[in-house]
Amino acid sequence: MKIISSIDELRDQLRGQLRTVFVPTMGNLHEGHLSLMRLARKHGDPIVASIFINRLQFGPNEDFEKYPRTFAADVEKLEKEGVYVLFAPAEKDLYPEPQEFRVQPPDDIGGILEGEFRPGFFNGVTTVVLKLFSCVQPRVAVFGKKDYQQLMIIRNMARQFSLPTEIIAAETFRAEDGLALSSRNGYLNTAQRAEAPTLYAQLNAVADAVRGGSHDLAQLEKSAMDTLAARGWQPDYISVRKRINLQAPSAQDLAQNEALVVLAAAKIGNTRLIDNLEI
Ligand code: PAF
Repeated sequence: MKIISSIDELRDQLRGQLRTVFVPTMGNLHEGHLSLMRLARKHGDPIVASIFINRLQFGPNEDFEKYPRTFAADVEKLEKEGVYVLFAPAEKDLYPEPQEFRVQPPDDIGGILEGEFRPGFFNGVTTVVLKLFSCVQPRVAVFGKKDYQQLMIIRNMARQFSLPTEIIAAETFRAEDGLALSSRNGYLNTAQRAEAPTLYAQLNAVADAVRGGSHDLAQLEKSAMDTLAARGWQPDYISVRKRINLQAPSAQDLAQNEALVVLAAAKIGNTRLIDNLEI
């Protein structure tokens, strides 16, 4: 595996490749990321991964400084997955000057859910993803459904900018007890780790009720949030949305069996976890 930090070198290395498949990450790789690499292999060749902790997508009080940096271990894992190039730019490589041109996702999709609780987050994500796409020029890129709203926003961005990159969605990789794998799980202490699967359990409770014909979404969402709060969580939201645009379903949508997803974000201690479940 070639490890490249400069954009020019990356372009030289990938020149002429027509089927490049790309998996962008912020490192601290776990089985969830590796499952993205395995899915990538089915959709193109060569596989290019990136590791870049993107300051633009972190709020002022978020965990940019303490975000886990495990480069040597990450390299070993990517080598085993047959990754051809790891693009690992330093900040000065990707942002040699202040990044003043930005991608601004529309409010109806970028200002809700995560966008409401993490202002600027999706602006930072789409800006870096567009820039990484411009560097790698992939035919296909893989994103996890764990970050459901991110996936949808990147899909919409790729469509609206007519990017020549097909966006592939990977299923969420879960621990045996249901907890979605995430780099931020590493912040949890033993007691918090034992409690963490409750988030997924509450998503299942809401999803099961909706599947069973319950249409009082506000009540279901409140009950799941109350359950979390009673167990010591600080929930930001648990919300049933339409998969197509992440807007709240109308009574008519529910009657017509519109495809839905329930999304959640909640803090346990100082660690904010997100998860979702298609209904
Ligand atoms: O999902 C992530 O790890 C990041 O948001 C991404 C897509 C690599 C952009 O920094």
